[in-house]
Amino acid sequence: MNEKIEKIKEEIAGHVIASKENLESFRIRFLGSKSVVKDLFSDLKTVANEQRREIGQRLNALRQEAQTRFDQAKEQLEDAASDDEKLDLSRPGDSIEIGARHPLSLVRSEIIEIFNRIGFSVSEGPEIEDDWHNFSALNFPPEHPARDMQDTFFIQKGEEEIALRTHTSSVQVRVMENSKPPIRTISPGRVYRNEAISARAHCFFHQVEGLYIDKDVSFADLKQTLMHFAKEMFGEKAQIRLRPSYFPFTEPSAEVDVSCTICNKKGCNVCKYTGWLEILGCGMVDPNVLDSSNIDSKEYSGFAFGMGVERIAQLKYRVNDLRLYSENDVRFLKQFTPGI
Ligand code: DAH
Repeated sequence: MNEKIEKIKEEIAGHVIASKENLESFRIRFLGSKSVVKDLFSDLKTVANEQRREIGQRLNALRQEAQTRFDQAKEQLEDAASDDEKLDLSRPGDSIEIGARHPLSLVRSEIIEIFNRIGFSVSEGPEIEDDWHNFSALNFPPEHPARDMQDTFFIQKGEEEIALRTHTSSVQVRVMENSKPPIRTISPGRVYRNEAISARAHCFFHQVEGLYIDKDVSFADLKQTLMHFAKEMFGEKAQIRLRPSYFPFTEPSAEVDVSCTICNKKGCNVCKYTGWLEILGCGMVDPNVLDSSNIDSKEYSGFAFGMGVERIAQLKYRVNDLRLYSENDVRFLKQFTPGI
């Protein structure tokens, strides 16, 4: 008898009551007129006289336990039901927050659109690059300082040394190797340099490379293309100036400044009181570079340029700390999309 009581006790505690139907089956099994507890009460007469009193008390306690469990479960189910009734279908829904595009992504798209309109396609290349595409094919001499460990993140891959690309000029080489002139393409992407992170330098940033190769492409074509870009990007009043420079992959080479959009050339702390800001490097593709990629330098000529996306974003949005672009602070990122 004691064993039977224990078993039923466990059953009462373990019975799942998650619905009205569960509650009713609980009632029938443990509290109804044909319940297992009632059966035990009927068996009481078979119990020896001296034990009957004790077992009777235990049976009463068992019935009480079933009743308490029943009452609690019933109350819980009723509460849950009335919560459902409180549901107000006329309440406005929870609004979904709309994300904002990253300022660098906005500037990148704008650059792409400007060049798309004058016939440049978009091409991409890998961020993990080999020496050939990042340096050798671009006419870097073997001991050139840009190959130095200080600038380049090298990765050891077995015997071979590969690197994170230091500029998007590597994509020029890939495009030239894989297509025939005329070529008119821009290559946006992320580049890496082994620099300490500060407001003015970062170990990764973004560039857009441009390449135009055809018969009789001249320096005047380059200058006109860049002037067009500057006016589209910074407004009709923008001016450019070219300063002679040196890159291994172009000859002649130049650096290009745009008139300061912040002070209109009057001089301010952004342009360091010069009225001009450097935005890109460019030049006529060196014949060695064309030949390395199997393009006949006697038949074709071309120009190339490479600009920093962060630099252009700085001018457009006046953000002068490079670290902000990669900190993912929503309060910063939200400012560039109006109306959110
Ligand atoms: N690759 C150069 C840099 O990262 C930028 C550059 C200069 C790209 C001249 C060019 C170019 O295509 O012609 O500083």
